Amino acid sequence: MKAVRTEATAFAPATVANVACGFDVLGFALESPGDEVTVRITTERGVKITSIASDDGLPELNLPTNPHENTAGGAVIAYLEGIGADFGVEMSIRKRMPAGSGMGSSAASAAAALVALNALVEKPLSPEELVDYGMKGEAIASGSEHADNVAPAIMGGIVLIRGYNPTDVVRIDAPPHLHCTVLRPHCEVSTKEARTILPKEIPMKTAITQWGNLAGLIAGLLKRDDGLIARSLRDVVAEPYRAALIPGFYAIQQAALVAGALGCSISGSGPSIFALSTSHEAAERIGTAMHNALTEACTEGTLYISRLADGQPRVVSVR
Ligand code: HSE
Repeated sequence: MKAVRTEATAFAPATVANVACGFDVLGFALESPGDEVTVRITTERGVKITSIASDDGLPELNLPTNPHENTAGGAVIAYLEGIGADFGVEMSIRKRMPAGSGMGSSAASAAAALVALNALVEKPLSPEELVDYGMKGEAIASGSEHADNVAPAIMGGIVLIRGYNPTDVVRIDAPPHLHCTVLRPHCEVSTKEARTILPKEIPMKTAITQWGNLAGLIAGLLKRDDGLIARSLRDVVAEPYRAALIPGFYAIQQAALVAGALGCSISGSGPSIFALSTSHEAAERIGTAMHNALTEACTEGTLYISRLADGQPRVVSVR
């Protein structure tokens, strides 16, 4: 396939994966923060990452510029191979959130790169097709091709991954009244490590509890039933193991619930913690309570408050 334009910049958002009860199969997009990637077409084939920059105040980046080791690079290499491209690309990445935070940082860069590149080709692929290439990037970051960050980063809203092989994704509109508070403790947890501490098998009783909650959460989101959403936002599969990686996790979760959160759990593989609520004021009050509990656990943190994003990633400029 040919490129018909020369340069595009796209923004893709942070995401909350798992959403408590949907380990590896559910995620939603935030309106902000997010990453921006500029992709330029080159006549020479191959992929080159020319720069990776980050916003002021973020921890120093230690991300590889070798495209085979970088999530955005890996996703773009897979895309170019998939479409039989007769060109190459150069790209520059601007990170607006830290890596290793549990906010889908690796997926946001891969999604922004794919969306920018897709704006340049003769026959752009569908968002669902982009998700498959995005998962190639996730495999580089975490060792597994999960889509619960990259699918909502590419498709917006809330995305259920009904199945893998073949990827079967279902997008649900985000209820407009839902707000998300994310507290990012200033420590890093690698997704690879957070996955290796999980058991390979779970008891039937645990599975029944988890799939009841997942079905309840999806029904609650579709019916706009906040009580059902609140009862369903529980994780008995990953949280009991991963909580130990996050200083003061249970105190922070309790503080969020007392302050009025519908639910509170680990964002992706952590260390970020998310809480859902029904207004901006509630999201701020919950954030303060969570932050105070984190400080009592002797760690600093950064708060983000955002609605769930309903739109898809933005192409910021194209020429
Ligand atoms: N579902 C993945 C995990 C998300 O929990 O390992 C990683 O952000």
